[in-house]
Formats: sequence, C-alpha cells, structure tokens
Amino acid sequence: MPTYEHVLAPIEINGLEIKNRVVRTAHGTNIGQGRITDELIAYHEARAAGGCGLTILEAASVHPTDMGTLWLHDASVVDDYRRLMSRLAPYGMAVFQQLGHLGYEGVTADGGPPWSASELPGPSIRRPAKAMTADDIAELTDAFAQAARWSVEGGVHGVEVHIAHGYLLQQFMSSATNQRADEYGGSWENRIRMAREVVGAVRTAIGAEIPLGVRIGSEAVGDGGVTEHDCAGLVRVLADDGLIDYVNLTYGSCLRPHKIMGGMHEPPGYELEAAAPVVAAVDLPAIVTGRFRTLAEADQLIAEGVADMVGLTRAHIADPDLVAKSLEGREAEVRPCIAGNDGCVGGLNRGRLSCAVNPAVGRELEFPRLEPSTQPLQVVVVGGGPGGMEAARLAAERGHSVVLFEARDRLGGAVRQAQELPTRALLGDICDWQERELSRLGVDVRLNQAADVDAITAARPHLVVVATGATGAELPDISTVPRGATAVVDDRFGGYEALGFAEWLATRGLAVTVTTPGRRVAANALLDLVVQPALERLQALNVNIQTKVDPPPKAHLALTVAKHPHDPLSTDLIAAGLKAHVIGDAREPGRILTAIADAHGVEFG
Ligand SMILES: Cc1cc2nc3c(=O)[nH]c(=O)nc-3n(C[C@H](O)[C@H](O)[C@H](O)COP(=O)(O)O)c2cc1C
Ligand code: SF4
Repeated sequence: MPTYEHVLAPIEINGLEIKNRVVRTAHGTNIGQGRITDELIAYHEARAAGGCGLTILEAASVHPTDMGTLWLHDASVVDDYRRLMSRLAPYGMAVFQQLGHLGYEGVTADGGPPWSASELPGPSIRRPAKAMTADDIAELTDAFAQAARWSVEGGVHGVEVHIAHGYLLQQFMSSATNQRADEYGGSWENRIRMAREVVGAVRTAIGAEIPLGVRIGSEAVGDGGVTEHDCAGLVRVLADDGLIDYVNLTYGSCLRPHKIMGGMHEPPGYELEAAAPVVAAVDLPAIVTGRFRTLAEADQLIAEGVADMVGLTRAHIADPDLVAKSLEGREAEVRPCIAGNDGCVGGLNRGRLSCAVNPAVGRELEFPRLEPSTQPLQVVVVGGGPGGMEAARLAAERGHSVVLFEARDRLGGAVRQAQELPTRALLGDICDWQERELSRLGVDVRLNQAADVDAITAARPHLVVVATGATGAELPDISTVPRGATAVVDDRFGGYEALGFAEWLATRGLAVTVTTPGRRVAANALLDLVVQPALERLQALNVNIQTKVDPPPKAHLALTVAKHPHDPLSTDLIAAGLKAHVIGDAREPGRILTAIADAHGVEFG
C-alpha cells in the first residue's frame, strides 16, 4: 500500500501548520449566490471531512464594480465566516480566502461600465470598460484591504490575492490591456504598481502573522500578454518587499479559458512547464495545479521537488473523500473527475456549481450520505450505461437487491464508443468506476441479455429502471471506405458527438465536412472550454465547418448525428402492472451529466 509520505507531510506557511499538501484551489461556486450560506458551508464541510489539507475559498468580490460569486462588501460577512469556520474547525483543514476583481470582465452592481486599466472591452462582456482614475485605484485598493480584514476577523487562516487569468491586476500588468500614460502604465514597474499596492495594503490590513499569497500564472496568450517570466519577476518583487508567504501557480486567462481548467484533451501536468520559472523565482512554498486527480500524482510531484503542495480541485468536486479513501487503500473507489467541465464550469455558467459525475455537489444538505433502506426491495435496471449503472449503484448502496440487464457484452453504453474518439478516453473512467462499484456492492450484472417483459417479471421487481439509451449517433464501419473519400457529418443534436466523429474520421484519412442547420456546431457543448480547442484540432486536420446548411452536401459517407430516445419497454412494463421509471437518454437524449442526474431522481424508498 502506498504511504504517500511526501504529500502527507505537514507544511508551514508563515507559521501556520497545514496538515498535508493537498489543496483545493479557489473555484467559483455561486452556491450561496454571493453569501456564505448553509449550503456553501455543507459543500466545504464534506471536503474538509474527506481529509483535504488546505482550501482556498472562491475568488471574492471586494467592490460593487465586480459582483462575482461571493461578496465581501460589508461587515455582515464576518459572522458568516465565523459560522463557516466553526463548522470546519473539527476537521483541521486550513482555509484561505481568495480576493479578486475581474476588471473588464466584471458585472457591476449599478449596471455601469466595468473597471479596468484602460477603456477596452472584456472578451466576454464586450463592453468598453471605464479606465480607472487614481481615486478609483485608491478606493479599490482600500476595498481589497477591508475585505481581507473581514475575512481574518471571521477566522479565516490566510488570504490570497488573485493576480491571474487576465483579470484586473493582470490587465494592469499586460501591455496589451494597459494603455495608461500615468504612473500605473507604460514601464514594467508602473504596470505592476497596482498589484504591488494591493498586496501591500492587504498585508498591512492583516498584519505580519497571517499567511498571504498570490495566485499567479502566465496568461498563455502570446504577444503582449503576461508571460511566466513576467510572473516570476512580479513574485520576486513581492517577496523582496517582504509581502508574500507562498505562491499559487495557475495558467491561462479569460482570453484562453480552456487553459485555466484544462479539459480531458490536456495531459495531467499541462501547466507545469509555465509554472516552473515562477516556482524557481522565490524561496517560498509553491502550489501547482493542472488536471491532477490522484494522491499518487501529488506525492510524486512533491517527491521530485516540482512543488511543495498540489491542487486537486476538480478531483475534489467529483469526490470529496478522495484523500480519506486513498489513505485507506481504497483508491479504486475514488470517483474520478472526467475533466469535461460540463458540471462545474458549465454549472456555474448555468447558475451554480455542479458536477457531471456527482449530482450531490452543492446540494450536500439535500443528498445526505446514503443510509440502508428499512425496506429492502427487488430492483431491476435495464441498460448498463452511465445512467443505468448509477441507478443500480444507488439502489445497491441503499441495501436493495439489484439485477442489471445489459444487451451488449460490456457495461458503459454509449460512453464506450465516445471514449474511442480522439482525446475523449477519460470519459470511460466514470463507467469503469461505476462498474467497480457494482461489483463491490454485489449487483447481479447480466451481460448479453436484452431483457424483455418476461425476463424482467421473472425477477419479481418492485421497481424497474429503464435506461435503454438512445439511437442515432453511432460511428459507422469505414473498413471499406477508401482514404481520401469525402465524409459529411451533419450535426442535428448539438452535443460534442459531431465534432468527435469528424476528428475520428479525419484522423483515418477522410476529407471531412461538419454541417449544421443551426448557427454553430456542437451548440450545446461548452464553447470556450470544449468546442474551441476541438475546432483548433479540426482546423489542423483540414476539416471544413459549415453552419446554416440544410440539406447537407452529398458525400461518399453521409452521417447524421441526431439522438432519439430508445425505450422499447416502459409501456409494456406498466401494462404488466410493474412500476417503471425511464431515465437518461431513453427519457431525453442528453449527456453523461443528465443521465447520472436522472438516476438520482429515482425514488427507491
Ligand atoms: C468551476 C471553477 C471555478 C473556478 N474559479 C476560480 C477562481 O475563483 N479563482 C481561481 O484562481 N481559479 C479558479 N478556478 C481554477 C481552479 O482553481 C484550478 O486552477 C483549475 O480548476 C485547475 O485545477 P484542477 O485541474 O485541479 O481542477 C476555477 C475552476 C473551476 C473548475
Ligand atoms: S463536472 Fe466534470 S470536470 Fe467538473 S469536476 Fe465534475 S467531472 Fe470534473
């Protein structure tokens, strides 16, 4: 059994001992809609109980010119922090608060223009910002200091200033977004002045004893953007000023968000190369991050001296008990993050954090830990895709006796095809995990059995879950299609499938065009994080994209991606007097997130 001695070794940051080197870096949740609510506390408490060493709370807004997802705008927040910190205290997890300002990407409380270094529009907000006056800069600097004071008064152990992701303090740093002619623009010294003053003001506000660090990293945008060497220069200045106690590395910016939270197309550690010069610039504890998922990876990074602490952020969204399970030798039971960003970032875009593989995220109060049922039932699940397996798993966790029928020779349903598409292998991890859980829980899995009403009735179920999936999005057999043949993939569904099929066909030598009658392909997939990187890869493969095309042009191989629910059973089951619950694609074609969430909606009793 691994000892994880490096990642489990305690570490000190400015006199504060942190029990291990596992970090949940800041991540916007909007669970409390701006406030520290019981729901937000429960979200963090679950992860504190799971053994994480340090949590950095989501970037807080310090001023009404940037509303953000957590507001530190008045002293009432002190009591909220006290409630949070007293609930977390028993677990010994250190808690820092990140303070930030989105600058030209912010939404203001009064509907006025966002603030920035210059009058440029933000890449998403697309509204010219107000170039901050010297008075604005002084007011905002004071607001950072005041917010830090309230956090510490409320019991938070440390503070982090957000100087990353192309937000306000980097807008001042970057010559591309800072066009000022005063002492905050022009030379490098002038462009880092605001960051330096903000960190200085926060240090003065919280005193010398409280840990203070910065979130920092290359914007990954090229010309004019903030580079890793600029970041190294800034942390050196801040360290020489005696202001900071640690550095927390990140990557990417609002101009390249898919580099901030790398999707499954990025390898673990994709941020490390850019992080290295900043880590090396100062002799301070350094946190690195970048699609890591296991304690073993974190342990190795620390053993190799790459960093002192490691972020396992989305990994902890997916499974709050990652550390505890690993320490008990139950690594195989850790529910894996599949890095699709559909639930976390997508959830935030839709209103609040969630998770594709864990619907309990942000709803910990509604989803208490699964207790055995007082009335064990006989449950039949038909279909072993992610929805069906999740239903079987939940029923078995409750102590029900479960039979799962799967028509194919393997569990996983449509995911097994999806994981074969280029860069999508991680999708399979969640089905592998579910499969292991079904085996651990003793579910009676019957492969190669397309259950009919007679077979189901013979199992004498109290409840049948129909999870028979969808049709209409199958990869073709191209063994007889010559290289160079033309292929058209017509996207009528809006998921990732059409892009994935196109990449799969293009890498096999076909001349591919993707069409859609709509205004964009993969219209329901995350544009910045998923579609954009895929389009870059497709461009490199000479794939042609045509929107607003109907009907699609003719080709040697014509594929239409349009998913239709496949439910051959529920009507007959109900007619036979059985209770049937249709979930996932069989109810309404969707994604892994919707299939798994549907399973959680089944009432097993
Ligand atoms: C939903 C979401 C919100 C995020 N919000 C923040 C934030 O408020 N501040 C920040 O510095 N980073 C933010 N990040 C970036 C994470 O801190 C982290 O750098 C990123 O998720 C990569 O680490 P991981 O692969 O361990 O998840 C966010 C990430 C996610 C997924
Ligand atoms: S939604 Fe996806 S990327 Fe985000 S934490 Fe969950 S599994 Fe990971």
